[in-house]
Amino acid sequence: MDTAATTDEGPDLARGVTLADFDGRNLLRGHVGDEAVLLARVGAEVLAVGARCTHYGGALDQGVIEGESVRCPLHHACFSLRSGEALAAPAFDPVPCWKVEREGERFFVRERLGPSPFPARPAAADDPRCIVIVGTGAAGFAAAEMLRRRGWSGELTLLGAEADPPGDRPNLSKDYLAGGAPEEWMPLRPAEFYADNHIDLRLSTEVVRIDAAARTVTTRDGRQLSWDRLLLATGAEPVRLPIPGADLPQVFTLRSQADSRAIIARTGTARSAVVLGSGFIGLEAAAALRARGLAVHVVSLDALPLERVLGAELGRHIQGIHEARGEVFHMGSSIAAIRDGAVTLSDGTQLAADLVVIGVGVRPRLALAEAAGLAVDHGIVVDPYLETSRAGIFAAGDVARWPHGRGSARVEHWVVAERQGQVAAANMLGARQPFRDVPFFWSAHHEVTIRYVGHAPAWDEIRIEGSVAANDCAVSYRKDGRTLALATIGRDVQALEQSRRLAGEA
Ligand SMILES: Cc1cc2nc3c(=O)[nH]c(=O)nc-3n(C[C@H](O)[C@H](O)[C@H](O)COP(=O)(O)OP(=O)(O)OC[C@H]3O[C@@H](n4cnc5c(N)ncnc54)[C@H](O)[C@@H]3O)c2cc1C
Ligand code: FES
Repeated sequence: MDTAATTDEGPDLARGVTLADFDGRNLLRGHVGDEAVLLARVGAEVLAVGARCTHYGGALDQGVIEGESVRCPLHHACFSLRSGEALAAPAFDPVPCWKVEREGERFFVRERLGPSPFPARPAAADDPRCIVIVGTGAAGFAAAEMLRRRGWSGELTLLGAEADPPGDRPNLSKDYLAGGAPEEWMPLRPAEFYADNHIDLRLSTEVVRIDAAARTVTTRDGRQLSWDRLLLATGAEPVRLPIPGADLPQVFTLRSQADSRAIIARTGTARSAVVLGSGFIGLEAAAALRARGLAVHVVSLDALPLERVLGAELGRHIQGIHEARGEVFHMGSSIAAIRDGAVTLSDGTQLAADLVVIGVGVRPRLALAEAAGLAVDHGIVVDPYLETSRAGIFAAGDVARWPHGRGSARVEHWVVAERQGQVAAANMLGARQPFRDVPFFWSAHHEVTIRYVGHAPAWDEIRIEGSVAANDCAVSYRKDGRTLALATIGRDVQALEQSRRLAGEA
C-alpha cells in the first residue's frame, strides 16, 4: 500500500510529547495547528521537520532515518532532519524546519524556523566560468538546479531538443496518459524558475557537435557555445523496429511529453490499442489506455512480462493484474505488419488497432559522445565522479555507465538520473564526490506499485518473502550467496532498509 501523508493526524506537538509517545519507533508524526510535523529521535536529540514529502506528499513518518536525514518511503527522496533541505532527488524543495524545546520529560514544537540555506560552497579560484548542460531531462534539470542551489553564479546554459520544459517523465505513461494528471502538473519547475535563477534554458535546441579540444558545442541552427565544463545528459531513445507499417500515423513510441500528448490525441477517436512490448513502459501505457476505456492487447516476444528484470513469479503476477482489468496478452508473439485499423501478429492473428504503441526498450543516445572521441561502452564511460574519459566533460543519467559494485552499471531509472545530475553538478564545481547511490526505481501497474532497490542484471537464486498474490511481498535477487537487489510490493520500509544495507556493502 502506498503511504501518502494526507491528514494532520497524531498528537498536538504544541502541547508536548514524551519519548514514550514514540512507541518504540524513532519517528513520530504529529501536528502543530494544521501543519503535519515529524519528530525524529537522532541519538539523544529530538528534531522536527515537516511530515509531508515535497515530491508527491509521501508520509515521512513511514520512512526511515539514515544518520541525520529521513528517506521518503515512496520514491526515496532524502531530507535533512536538521535543516529540512532536500538532500537527494526526487524532491527538490525543502520541508519546513521546526524548533524543538525540551521541558523536563516533554518535547514541545511551537515555532517554525525560516528556511535554512544549503551550505553554499565558497567560490574557488578555479571555478568554471561557464557550464553547458546538454539534455533537459531528469539529469540535466537536477544538475542545473543543484549548481544554483550550491551558489555557483557562473554562466549556465541548459540545452534540450524537446519543446517542453523539464518535466515529470515517469508520469507520461501513468496518470498523465491515463487522464488523471493535467498539463500544469508536468513541469518540474515553472517557467520563471529559469529566469529567476539565471539559467539560460533553450528548448527545441539540438546539439549536433562537441569539440572537446576547443571546448565548444554546436547546435543544429549553427550556433556555437563555449564551456569550461560540459554535462552530457542526453538520455535514451526508444528502439524502433523495421515493421511494415511502423511509419503510419497511428503508430507511436513513448519518451517525450509530445509523444504522450500525441497518443492522448489519438485516443479521442480510437477504440482499440495494441502495445508491442511487455516491459515497464509498455505495460504502464497499456494500463493507462485501458483506464481511458480502450480495448487493449499487449504483444510480446517474451514468455512472461518483466521476467528478465523481476523473475517469473512477479512477472506472472503483474500479467494477472493487467488481465484482471481486461488487457489481453499475446506472449511469445510479435507484430508482423501494421495497417490502418489493425495489426497482424507473427502467428497470423489479426487484432483491431486504431492505435499502436511500440515499447520495446530504449538505447542510450551516444552519437555526440562517440563523435567527440569519448570512451563509450554501451553507455558513456564515466569514473566514480561521473567524469568521462575527457577532463571537464561529465555524463549523467540513462546515458552514463558508471563504476558499480564489482563492475559497472547503466540503468534507466528516474531517481538515479536525477541524483547523478546532482553529483555531477557538485563535481563540475570540484567537489570530488563519488556517486555511490544504490539504484532505485518504481513502476505502477493499475493499483499496484513495485519498488526495486539495487541492481541485479543476473541472479542464481530468487527468494520470496510474504505473499505475491496478496501484494505484500519482498523478492530478493541473489548471486553467489549475496542479495544484489530487492523488489517489494506493499513493503516500502523493507525496500528502504535493503537500500541502506546495499549502500553499506558498496
Ligand atoms: C514514459 C516513461 C515512464 C517512465 N517511468 C519511470 C518510472 O516509473 N520509474 C523510473 O525510475 N523511471 C522511469 N522512467 C525512466 C526515466 O524517465 C529515465 O530514467 C530518466 O528520464 C532518465 O533521465 P535522463 O536525464 O538521463 O534522460 P531523459 O530524461 O531522457 O532526458 C534526456 C534529454 O536530452 C535531450 N537530448 C538528447 N540528445 C540531445 C541533443 N543532441 N541535443 C539536445 N538535447 C538532447 C532529450 O531531448 C531529453 O530531453 C520512465 C521513462 C519513460 C519514457
Ligand atoms: S513522494 Fe516522497 S519521494 Fe516521492
